[in-house]
Amino acid sequence: MCIRQLAVIGAGQMGSGITQIMAEQGKKVFLQDVDKSRVLMGIRRIEENLSRDVAKGRKTEQEKEAVLSRIRPVTDLDGIRDAEFVIEAATENPEIKRTIFRQLDQLTDEETVLTTNTSSISITKLAAATGRPGKVAGMHFFNPVPVMKLVEVIRGMATEDRTFRIVKSLAEEVQKVPVEVRDFPGFAANRILIPMINEAIYCVYEGVTSPESIDQVMKLGTNQPMGPLALADLIGLDTCLSIMEVLHEGYGDTKYRPCPLLKKYVEAGWLGRKTGRGFYLYD
Ligand code: 3HC
Repeated sequence: MCIRQLAVIGAGQMGSGITQIMAEQGKKVFLQDVDKSRVLMGIRRIEENLSRDVAKGRKTEQEKEAVLSRIRPVTDLDGIRDAEFVIEAATENPEIKRTIFRQLDQLTDEETVLTTNTSSISITKLAAATGRPGKVAGMHFFNPVPVMKLVEVIRGMATEDRTFRIVKSLAEEVQKVPVEVRDFPGFAANRILIPMINEAIYCVYEGVTSPESIDQVMKLGTNQPMGPLALADLIGLDTCLSIMEVLHEGYGDTKYRPCPLLKKYVEAGWLGRKTGRGFYLYD
């Protein structure tokens, strides 16, 4: 099954990245967000990425315009009813996501596959909000989406084989590497990555060394492209905290307790790059 037009719900960092790679592959994309300014900001982010490609000679100006012309900004969910496939990348809040899935179930054709880019919320729970749990799966991209090769394809308890195959083949079509993962808290990547980031924050909290030194240690000592604290700022400290909370609650194991310093940063609104301050300061 070849998907020709799809919808991306949520025009934030992840939603706009997903929209870009889909439109680059020739697909028509409805990019939906409740707030018009957020949709426009998402499209501006895509335009900046494409302009960088033009500047580096990887695309022509016409190719850039063709990609942009395939993106339809939408504010009302009703505007996506013709989508053949949906990727939800809205805010990481279980209630908001369940409401969106309930609406998508009513709006779209009953054969339409509904996926979520959630970083840790149960796929099975979101699927249960619909009347088609077999056609729901996780499609978890990584930030920055145009660069990172992995897509975790997550099967909920009821996900049908056909749904899994459709999601996997779409991921391959947009040059990503799909990896099948079962529906457990944090799936696989975040279950490993976010506790490492949390441990790095504990090192700052306990005065082991400075954020700069921790990042240097991990970059030079373990060949990571960026240190865990710079990465936390890229992901968003609120997202890191919410994933730790899901792991802590989901496994009931104290090894997943979120670092108090991470909680304090989130309370202060120091969420990383998106707010201009996290473990580092940004323009
Ligand atoms: N959008 C598009 N392209 C981008 C980009 C963005 N936001 N950021 C960087 N790039 C591109 C650049 O254009 C550049 O491309 P080029 O070499 O072809 O010109 C290339 O990426 C390298 O960028 P830079 O030279 O600016 O910087 P780096 O070499 O340091 O790479 C990085 C930046 C790709 C972000 C690299 O540091 C990296 O891989 N960091 C780790 C990222 C990571 O681990 N992500 C996963 C986070 S976890 C997650 O997302 C899951 C979620 O659920 C929490």
